[in-house]
Formats: sequence, C-alpha cells, structure tokens
Amino acid sequence: MKTLTIIVFTVCSGLAALGQDAAKLYQTHCSHCHGNTFQGGSAKSLADGTWQFGDTSGHINRNIKFGITHLGMPAYEKTLSDQQIKQISTYLLEMQKQAGATKSPIPETLQTLDYDINVEIWTEGLEVPWSLAFLDEKTALVTERSGRLRTLDKGRLHSKPIEGIPEVLAEGQGGLLAVAFDPDYHEEGNQWIYLAFSHGLEIQPNGRRSLAMTKLVRGRINGNDWTDEETLFEAPHETYRTTRHHYGTRIVFDEKKDLYFAIGDRGTGAHAQDLSKPNGKIHRIRRDGRIPRDNPFRRNKTAMPSIFSYGHRNPQGLAFHPQTGHLWSAEHGPLGGDELNLIAPGTNYGWPIITYGKNYNGTPITDIVRKEGMEQPVWYWRPSTAVCAIDFYHGDLFPKWNNKLLVGALKYEDVRLLDIENGRVMHEEVILKNAGRVRDVVCGPDGAIYVVLNNPGTILRLTPKED
Ligand code: HEC
Repeated sequence: MKTLTIIVFTVCSGLAALGQDAAKLYQTHCSHCHGNTFQGGSAKSLADGTWQFGDTSGHINRNIKFGITHLGMPAYEKTLSDQQIKQISTYLLEMQKQAGATKSPIPETLQTLDYDINVEIWTEGLEVPWSLAFLDEKTALVTERSGRLRTLDKGRLHSKPIEGIPEVLAEGQGGLLAVAFDPDYHEEGNQWIYLAFSHGLEIQPNGRRSLAMTKLVRGRINGNDWTDEETLFEAPHETYRTTRHHYGTRIVFDEKKDLYFAIGDRGTGAHAQDLSKPNGKIHRIRRDGRIPRDNPFRRNKTAMPSIFSYGHRNPQGLAFHPQTGHLWSAEHGPLGGDELNLIAPGTNYGWPIITYGKNYNGTPITDIVRKEGMEQPVWYWRPSTAVCAIDFYHGDLFPKWNNKLLVGALKYEDVRLLDIENGRVMHEEVILKNAGRVRDVVCGPDGAIYVVLNNPGTILRLTPKED
C-alpha cells in the first residue's frame, strides 16, 4: 500500500513539473494571441473544443512547429525544441479536457445564403463510417472502415452487419471503403453491389508486413449474406505496397454505365507518373471488370489498361456532373495542396511533379506549380481542408442548388457548396462546420443532403426549413 502511494505521488509530481514548464512556455510564447487562459484574443480560443487545423497531437505539434503562417500563426521551429513543442501540445490537450470543453454540439439548424436548414440526426452509433449509398428512398448501405457493411432502413441501422463480405486490411487509412449499387440494380438478374477496400496479402515468409492495395469486387446480398462475389479489379501482387495510407477510392458510373474508381499513390508519389503501376490513378472498367475498348492506354503495352487518368495523389471524391456528364475528382494534397480536378481521359494531373502544396514539414516538394502536358486543378485549397467526398446536388428540396457541388472535408470538418460554371468555380460557401470529420456527402433520392461524419460516427440529414 505504502509503495503504491509513493509511486503515484512520483508520477503525479513528474507530470505536474512537465505541466509547469509547458505552462510557462505557453504564457511566454502564446498567451498574447491565444489569451492567458486559452480563451482567445487576436487568435482563436484553444479551449473551445474545436481544432480547426487538426485535433491529433501530431497536427497540433505540426501547427506549432511550422505555423499557419498565412493566417498569422508563427512557426516555432527555430524558437522551441521538438521536446518543448510536444510538452505544449500535451498541455493544451490536457487543459482542454480539464476545461470540460466538449465538441460543439451538432447544430439543429443552419443558415446559408439560399436556405435555412433543419439538421436531423438520421443515424448514429456507427464506427468510422466511410461511404453511404442509396438504393431508393428507403434502403441504403453504409460501410464502416473496420470491415462492416451495414444496412439502413429509412435511417434505422440493422444491428447485424452483412455476413461474408471480403476480408479487409483495416490498418491506417485502410479498410472497407466505398460501396455502390449497380445503376441497373432493379433489372432482373442484376442486383449487383460494388465494394472497394484495402486488400492485404498474406504476411511475407520473411516476416515482413503484409502488402496491400485497393481492390474492387461485386456481389449480391441474399438475406443477410454476401453472395456471388466476383473480383473486378485486383492489381498484380508485385505492385502491392507495405504502406497503409492513400488508398483513394469511391465508385461512380458514367452514362454508359462504365465504372470509375480511384487509387491513391499509396505513399509513393513517383508511381503516380508510372503507367505500369495501379497507384496514383483513376481507373475505368466495365461493370463486369472488362476493359472498355476506348480506354486511353489500352494500346500502350507497358501501361495498365484500366488507367483513365494519372498523376493523382489521393482522390477520395468522385462525381459526375448531372448535366455535362463530366467526371470531377477531389483529392487530398500535401500541406496546402488539396485539389478539385475535372477529369479527362489520358490526362496527367501532375502529382508529384507539380503541386500547390508543401511537405508536412514545410519544405517544398517541387518549385513548380505548372508544367506543359500536366493539367492544372480547377480549384485548390490552401491551407488544405482535407477534402474527401463530393457530390453534385440534383434534387427537388434545394432547387437553387441543382448542379452545385457539395464538398466534404475531414480536417476542417466542413461541407462546402461550390458554384461551378463552365468548368470554373465561381463561388464557395461553407454550409456546415465543426459537426465532425466529414467522410461522405450524398444527395439522397429524396433530395435531402446526407452528411456522413466520423467521431462520432453519425449521418446527418439536411432539409430546408418550411417558410
Ligand atoms: C502572433 C499571434 C500568435 C501567436 C504568438 C501564437 N499563435 Fe497560434 N494561432 C494564431 C493564429 C492567427 C491562428 C489561426 C487561427 C485563428 O485564426 O485564430 C493560430 C492557430 C493555432 C493553432 C491551431 C488551432 C486549431 O484550431 O487547430 C494552434 C494549436 C496554435 N495556434 C497554438 C499556438 C501555440 C502553442 C503558440 C505558442 C507556442 C501559439 N499558437 C502562438 C496566432 C498566434
């Protein structure tokens, strides 16, 4: 009993000492902008429960070290040691907890330029949901990254996940990612459902980490079981990577009902420029996995025939414009280089040769932002919001928003509405902020806007207020 008390005492006093150092550092370097009790001043409060620029200690460390210089947050790289920066971020997170600051509650209403909006919690209790697909107004499927496919009946979550779906490698950014219904689902003998996920190979005999790549299958749901599975895209195993990030994905269909999906660069930028590699590309296949006859690199002997466009870093948003039929993609850039691209066949989008972003440590990736033969983004976000899903609005509930683009962001926890005319972004409005990390945003068959949030795993349903 006695020893225990002593141990506890030492640990506590150790922590307290660390806290005191950090408190001093904070008062000296930070309080004149963020307030001596974190309440904010010329800069935002650091105790309001929101971390606009990322809420992990990694993000906070990075924001202190490299600053957010264009907004006036100085870089402390030269003034403070890494150790001191870590102390401060631990202290800030601890202070925030003590202040009892909780995340701002999900708002019940939103005001936008065009509409006052009701926000309803449509579904809760999901575990890192990744994508939402509607069959009709009643039935939807949602993926959970850990590897569960769940059915929703008017927003009511079936307690039992679908059984027998493929095993996924749920590590890092990987797991069960995209889900989509076949455009002809209701036709007799169709009923196909498509899944994209992180596929891991067996652990290597030499004990190396298992290799992984994005894979695509289709199957049917019979009762509560996944059946009739067919592999549509599985990259050659020698192209699989040991990394656990930048898997890309989303599954969309064009007017001819060909299927498009994206694979991120898997952490190796140079591969995005290498047509023999699956990563860093947007791919197009037939719904049964065959290669469309007019795929741009079909006749190129060294290229993968499924490639539609290349030079991508990590696209996690794909959507077709309802009127023009053009494919748009949103992709995560490095620090300050998230992009919105208009996708054309055979086109090179330049990663990592050109980018508007920097490495996460603030050093340049490349000096050039444009180059002949490489397409410019239509729009880019600096700082990066961590753009994720996109969808064009097309419905009856928000008629003024038809053909406008909804864009969700993870890090900034927002949904934006982009007005795009003739391939150019004319206006951008934040319509939802700080409700949670936005993993998917979908215009539902009923015309409502569905927003899939992580932490907490929730789906919101937005409808206009009656006036
Ligand atoms: C000259 C004023 C200034 C000083 C000094 C300053 N900051 Fe900041 N800080 C800002 C501004 C401006 C922002 C951007 C957000 C905003 O607009 O308020 C910011 C943002 C941040 C963020 C991101 C907050 C979020 O929501 O994600 C963190 C963390 C942060 N500062 C920590 C610190 C720490 C720790 C120190 C001291 C080592 C410090 N800041 C010193 C001005 C300052």
